[in-house]
Amino acid sequence: MTVNIQRVGVIGGGIMGSGIAQVCAVAGLSVVLVDISEAALAKAVAGIGNSLARLVNKGTLSEEQRSAALARIVTAVDYASLSAAELVIEAATENLELKLRILGQIGEQVTAEAIIASNTSSLSISQLATAVSHPERFIGLHFFNPVPLMQLVEVIRGLQTSDATYAATSAFAQRIGKRDIGAGNRPGFVVNRILVPMLNEAIFTLQEGLASAEDIDTGMQLGCGQPMGPLALADLIGLDTLLAILQSFQEGFGDPKYRPAPLLKELVAAGRLGRKSGHGFYRYG
Ligand code: 3HC
Repeated sequence: MTVNIQRVGVIGGGIMGSGIAQVCAVAGLSVVLVDISEAALAKAVAGIGNSLARLVNKGTLSEEQRSAALARIVTAVDYASLSAAELVIEAATENLELKLRILGQIGEQVTAEAIIASNTSSLSISQLATAVSHPERFIGLHFFNPVPLMQLVEVIRGLQTSDATYAATSAFAQRIGKRDIGAGNRPGFVVNRILVPMLNEAIFTLQEGLASAEDIDTGMQLGCGQPMGPLALADLIGLDTLLAILQSFQEGFGDPKYRPAPLLKELVAAGRLGRKSGHGFYRYG
């Protein structure tokens, strides 16, 4: 088991994958970012450039650190590029079949010593582990959005995860400047288990006409000290992602308290996915 992780592969150039690639590169690690098309990768790199520029403007990062971080990221559309990685983090769309297929493909390319992690927000780590040939070196590594700003990662052991894999992954999280907490393998782990029902309830509250979106958000910001209101946060997370998480809670726990608000389903069906589509509860851009 190698504990000294220097080369990281990230699968998926969406909001989470880009953010994960960015924080790894800023921490001095070499990153291969993999997605299915050059267009998706170009969009991801532009997003990383934009985020790094904001950090430079803020004085959090120097110009040299920004350009050095960008230079540490290479992109690829094929999994063969992962062969040198000591850690591969899968951050694809929250869909079980898709993730199982991707994890199988990662497993075919990496060395027997490499750790494979999933950034899943709600799927079972023990189940995902069945897709790889060394399930003892598979683990959950759950980041929070926006990844460059949120300090936390949850580290989730599946039934098969070894102690050495847990220790190496926890050390990696700290190496990239995050604070890690251990969380059990139940849908949503710890943070989403608590957060997502609150966001769903905010959508029910809007649906029932109890207050406007702005007032619901102002209420939770000024009444509970939340940095952003729940509807704005739902837009940031992505309404399709939020819906997928609620559905996996409903299936995983078999408890109707996790039923998604019909308004959430309707917005997703209409393609109003939040910030990433330019329109969710609010309009963007
Ligand atoms: N990269 C770099 N900098 C960024 C950024 C990014 N992606 N996003 C925002 N910033 C910077 C802005 O440039 C701004 O800089 P400034 O202070 O110099 O002006 C600063 O962060 C603050 O941004 P804003 O003024 O736009 O807004 P806020 O003050 O509200 O801060 C926030 C933004 C940090 C996102 C804050 O609102 C917050 O903490 N919100 C809660 C986020 C949260 O709960 N995330 C968890 C979601 S759950 C999850 O991810 C799990 C998943 O499985 C669903």
